[in-house]
Amino acid sequence: MNFLDPSPARHRTIPIQDARERYVAPDVQLLPQHAEDRSPDYMGPVQDALDRPWHDLRISVTDQCNFRCRYCMPKEVFGRDYPFLPHSALLSFDEIAHLVATAVPLGVRKVRLTGGEPLLRKHLEQLIATLAAQAEARAVPLNIAMTSNGSLLATKAAALRSAGLGRITVSLDALDERIFQQMNDADVSVATVLRGIDAALQAGFERVKVNVVLRRGWNEDQIVPLARHFLGMPVSLRFIEFMDVGQSNGWTMAHVVPGAEILQRLQREFHLTPLAPAAKGETARRWAYQELSTPTSTVQTEIGLINSVTQAFCGDCNRARITADGQLFTCLFAQSGVNLLPYLRGGDATTQPLGRLLRAVWSQRTDRYSEVRKEVNVKARANKAEMNYLGG
Ligand code: GTP
Ligand code: 5AD
Ligand code: SF4
Ligand code: SF4
Repeated sequence: MNFLDPSPARHRTIPIQDARERYVAPDVQLLPQHAEDRSPDYMGPVQDALDRPWHDLRISVTDQCNFRCRYCMPKEVFGRDYPFLPHSALLSFDEIAHLVATAVPLGVRKVRLTGGEPLLRKHLEQLIATLAAQAEARAVPLNIAMTSNGSLLATKAAALRSAGLGRITVSLDALDERIFQQMNDADVSVATVLRGIDAALQAGFERVKVNVVLRRGWNEDQIVPLARHFLGMPVSLRFIEFMDVGQSNGWTMAHVVPGAEILQRLQREFHLTPLAPAAKGETARRWAYQELSTPTSTVQTEIGLINSVTQAFCGDCNRARITADGQLFTCLFAQSGVNLLPYLRGGDATTQPLGRLLRAVWSQRTDRYSEVRKEVNVKARANKAEMNYLGG
């Protein structure tokens, strides 16, 4: 189907099971595997079974989104009757703060708020302020970030910044209005998202990351216009290979625009200088770029390629994800999570039992899906969780 020619079938709703029933938790043995972890009360940094430390916690604050990106929440699946989580199932801000306070001693230094669209969660700035205050009180350098579709950012950027949000990433898949709206399928204009990015820069975010998911046949001709648009701005523009997350986006390898091709397209127009990795476990390979014909701009504009399909980066993967209803997933492609709710809600609010569970889960982790994608039986992975539930 050419997505620029919408067919009526696109808006048919296919009922699927409630997300909460679909992902059944695996057995987790509460037995540490590493010598230094032998004491169940040890609360220092934890490494997984492949010696990867835990550094990054992505927290989905809602599974709802005001976009219907065709590669993430197509309307045929995420229609009017889709069983989104009821508000009562969402982790409260106190529960999230308790989780973060417990994860920090295990090594977590980066928290990324995601969704769905995180700005649909009311008073999100209160959660950010709580997390920032908690980190300050314990003198822990916690990096608080957010990934947003940008549609509500123009009004919220200043409040997010003053609450203590450190970094912000905005998704923008095209500069061309028609292509962008066909992809977000929610009548949100490019100008709205650009206003959100400007508002973030005005509010004092030093640099905004802009994520572009490339899907063959849809938006690869937007690579150069996007790069040209952001040239000279304090923006890190990142092109992401379309991934087989979830089971609703109809992914095939033929839809992936490989990073090598993206690089070639950019090199025809710009002079690219490779940048060293800023941190271990970084998802993007980065370059500084400038027009072939003009001198270096004073603002260093960056381009990154997130080659998650053709050059998997599982070897350094230090990320875990918590869904809005409290399931912990240790891989973007996991079929099940571990239910943290009994440890977070209504029970003992001390960190010890939850800390033990988190340590046990991380220390037994062996995930490396992107590295073994070709070998795994795709059918066996037929129940992968959706991106809006899992958090991007
Ligand atoms: P920071 O390092 O915190 O700035 O974030 P990031 O580079 O991880 O960026 P972001 O959260 O915006 O992720 C960008 C994209 O990289 C996501 O939209 C995914 O497409 C991809 N990605 C992020 N984390 C993972 C991961 O753990 N596995 C895979 N396969 N892809 C990921
Ligand atoms: N492949 C790659 N990236 C994706 N995102 C959502 N779905 C996919 C996919 N299938 C991206 C969004 C956003 C981030 C949260 O994840 O565009 O930038
Ligand atoms: Fe699009 Fe992000 Fe919403 Fe998914 S969660 S539909 S990628 S804006
Ligand atoms: Fe990490 Fe899983 Fe992504 Fe590999 S596929 S980088 S293990 S989240």
